[in-house]
Parts: sequence; C-alpha cells; structure tokens
Amino acid sequence: MSMKRIVTVASLAVLLIGVAQCTAGPNVPALKDVFKDHFLIGGAPNRSVVTGRDPNAAAIAEKHFNTITPENDLKWQRIHPLPDRYNWEPADSFVAFGEKNEMFLVGHTLVWHSQTPRWVFQDEAGDPLTRDALLARMKDHITTVVGRYKGRIKGWDVVNEALNENGTLRDSPWLRIIGEGSEDKRYDFIEHAFRWAHEADPDAELYYNDYNLETSRAKCDGAMAIVKHLQSKGIRIDGVGIQLHGGLTYPSVEGLEYAITSLAATGVKVMITELDIRTQARGYRGADVGRVNRAGTDDPTAATAETQKKLAEKYAEIFSVLLKHEKDVTRVTFWGIYDGRSWIGGSPLLFDRDYQPKEAFFAVVKAAGQR
Ligand code: XIL
Repeated sequence: MSMKRIVTVASLAVLLIGVAQCTAGPNVPALKDVFKDHFLIGGAPNRSVVTGRDPNAAAIAEKHFNTITPENDLKWQRIHPLPDRYNWEPADSFVAFGEKNEMFLVGHTLVWHSQTPRWVFQDEAGDPLTRDALLARMKDHITTVVGRYKGRIKGWDVVNEALNENGTLRDSPWLRIIGEGSEDKRYDFIEHAFRWAHEADPDAELYYNDYNLETSRAKCDGAMAIVKHLQSKGIRIDGVGIQLHGGLTYPSVEGLEYAITSLAATGVKVMITELDIRTQARGYRGADVGRVNRAGTDDPTAATAETQKKLAEKYAEIFSVLLKHEKDVTRVTFWGIYDGRSWIGGSPLLFDRDYQPKEAFFAVVKAAGQR
C-alpha cells in the first residue's frame, strides 16, 4: 500500500472513531456522574435501543444513565397481548441491557386504562367481566409479570394514571368493574394491585405514577389520598412518580415544590418518572395518551436558538427545584433518550435528533454545579 493510501485509510479510521465517540458525547460529563450524590438519573429506551438497532441511542443511555424504564414493552398490550399469550422477548432484552450496564430497572406498568387490550375487561362472549373475574385476571397478570423479573426489576409503577384532574378516581374499566359503583370499594383495584405486586416480589419497590401532579393541586391531593389509603391498610407503597411532561411555561416552581413536598410528607419517596418539555407553546397540557401524539405536538420553531434557550432555562429551573429537594427526590427519568424518537414532537429532551447534547443538557449540568 502506498504511503498516501495508508495516510488516507488511517485518517478515515480516526474520523470514524471520532464520529462514534461523538455520538456518545466524549467531551461532555456523564449525567450519572454529575448527579451521583443527588439522585438516580435515567431514560426510557424503546425496543430499538435495547436490541441494538439504535446503537447511538444505546451509547447515550450507557454513558449517561444509571436507571431505565421501558417506554412501552412492559405494558399489558405488548407483554400480554392475548389471554394465553405472553410476549417476553422485548422485555427480556430490556432487562438484559439494563443488567449489562448495572442500571436500576423500573417496570412500567401493571394496571392502567390505556394500552391495555379490550379483552382484559370482557368475557368470551364480549360482555363485561364480573368483579371477581377481573380481579382474578389482574392477579394472574401481576403475579406472572412481576414474578418473571423478581429480584431484577427493582421498582414497579403498579398503578398508572388512576386520577382525574380534580383528584377523583378516573372512570376506567378497573374502577367501574372492581369498584362496582360503591364508595367503599373505590380503592379496591389499587389495593389489590399493590398487594399482589408485593406478594410476587417482596423486595421490589412499588409506586403510584401519574401526570399533572405538579400542575394540579387537586390531582396531587388525590395522589396523596391514594398513598394514605394504602398506608392505612398496611399495604406497601414506596413512592409516587410525578411524570412531569412539562412545557416551556409550566410547571411553575411553586407547583412542582408543592407536589414534591406534600407527597414526601406522606413518607414516600418522590421520583420524576417521565420528564420531557414540550416546546410547542399552545394546546393541551397533559399527557393523556389519547390526546397527545407526535404530529399534534410538533413545533416548527423547535430548532431555533430562541426556543432552545427557553428550553434550557426551563430545564435549569426544574433541576434547581429537584436539587433543592434532593432529600425527597430519589430518581429523575427522562421519557425517551433523544429527540428523534421521543413520543412527542418538537425538541423535548436533552439530546437532539443527531444524538448531540443540546443547550438544555449543559444547563442541567450547570444546575448541578450550582448546588
Ligand atoms: C407513551 C409512549 O411514550 C408512546 O410511545 C406510546 O405510544 C403511548 O405511551 N404516560 C405514561 C407513558 O405513563 O406510558 C406514556 O408513554 C406517556 C404518558
């Protein structure tokens, strides 16, 4: 090989290594180091990340995160699509990826009204199940799923989004069928879910998880009522997850502080479980998956310097609150890894569509330095 050729090949190799390293952010600190004395920090990989089809996103997760939650693959629809069929492979890949990287694994989620097949609530004739039959089905699902990952998935979002904005319980099939319209039985489905999750893995932490707890005091009070109810019955609950799907102008510092301090006052851990910030200025504020989608939250100004600056400022503000309350906040998980595969449009995360850290990333790192 001629000298010139050797030089060309060598430069190409250096360039390629550079590109690969760049995507993991070689010159930036790892978030898990930045926050190691404060709280766990994580992301929500989807299937392509944990199975190796999106190596750049996997590199971000491996470098920056010490905890992960699967974005979709543990939801009933995915893991238990038919009465007699469980689809373990994707969740197994999630667990293997997390264990390889020594991450704290969170299971999401066992009892939810969304992404749960219709058959769950029906008998073979398509009629609504009885209370007892639905309880039996819930028990079987929880026992099977939590049992499979016993000792490996360390925390579970046992019940997800059971509340309305005004703090009352949401009119879901879980409440309708198991609650039977009776005041006395309204918390029954939640009680049973937590009991059976605990039986299936006595060492796992168990959480209640919801959105808008930081923007609606009534809803936050509803979450506190759930915690207190379980505690009054002697049922294990370790934490409440504040999803925190925010926007450039919300939540307010006061709203977030109210949620953290009032939930922590019940004695449970508080965690931010699905953090992202919608750059789109108008529209619905919340995370009802029936109302949010990528097209609906798209934002033509997402990439502008002005929007990125506002995003960085909002992230800095949120992290300064989380750091101020670090004795109560045990974990902060972003909902996704990078903008390109986020469930919402615009520019909601710390890494852009080219896997590069954004201004918001550096703002978050700086917030930690100011503690
Ligand atoms: C979202 C996922 O990110 C999407 O990919 C999916 O299509 C719908 O669900 N609250 C939750 C999460 O608890 O499970 C939701 O995740 C976002 C809102």
